[in-house]
Amino acid sequence: MKKAVVINGSPQAERGNTGRALAPFIEGMEAAGAEVQLFHAGRMKIKPCSGELDCWNKKPGQCIHADEMQALYPALRRAETLVLATPVFIPLPGEMQNLLNRLCPLVEPLLETRDGRTRARFRADVAITRIALVTTSGWWEAGNCDTVVRIAQELAAHANVQFAGALVRPHAHLIWKKGNPTEEGQAVLEAMRRAGQELIASGSISPETLIAAGRPLCGQEGYRQSSNRSYFGASGEAEG
Ligand SMILES: Cc1cc2nc3c(=O)[nH]c(=O)nc-3n(C[C@H](O)[C@H](O)[C@H](O)COP(=O)(O)O)c2cc1C
Repeated sequence: MKKAVVINGSPQAERGNTGRALAPFIEGMEAAGAEVQLFHAGRMKIKPCSGELDCWNKKPGQCIHADEMQALYPALRRAETLVLATPVFIPLPGEMQNLLNRLCPLVEPLLETRDGRTRARFRADVAITRIALVTTSGWWEAGNCDTVVRIAQELAAHANVQFAGALVRPHAHLIWKKGNPTEEGQAVLEAMRRAGQELIASGSISPETLIAAGRPLCGQEGYRQSSNRSYFGASGEAEG
């Protein structure tokens, strides 16, 4: 069985856009034979990294904090695939950033220069060979997710593992209307499932599937107008 860990960084956990878009992605991973462990960063009691770097210098590979991160470390050491799933919160929810900082013990500070950058690598007892990203955002453009994509790419580069693709889902809330997927939303969720399947079966997500999962669900100008209308409706102000 191919082991995978999925971390959902949304404070809304499975109820949020990220969690609901992630569900078919995980189903696809499992259909392709993965044993998936899902962690919700927002539900875990994780202390912030205190920056002593004891995990590098005094007790290599061990974090000094005895908290719920200690359950995640062994799962991460066993998993071949790590999926980071997160909403864009300019750029990340605090819980997700906290958790990413606490990955430090898994990294060996044996530095080398790769493509002109100082990089490290995961320790030899960490099985992860690839990192993929699933990110949702509220506004219309996929470009709102660029910083988050960059963060996931940087993590993969520092850890010396493959970056297996970024599934970018802008205006994610429009997948559903009154709680149910629209017709186009259903097609997006099917692409999500395919993406999870491809990730496990072939080690990456095809460009066609990424495009299908991230496709626009409305026009940009229509999006702006309808968002502003609901804002003015909610605030009771007249639209200027
Ligand atoms: C604090 C905060 C910051 C956000 N920043 C952005 C942003 O910069 N760009 C964007 O497109 N959406 C932004 N959003 C919208 C969320 O990314 C979007 O609604 C996402 O799908 C929420 O996922 P969730 O329901 O799983 O938490 C922000 C939302 C919050 C609460």
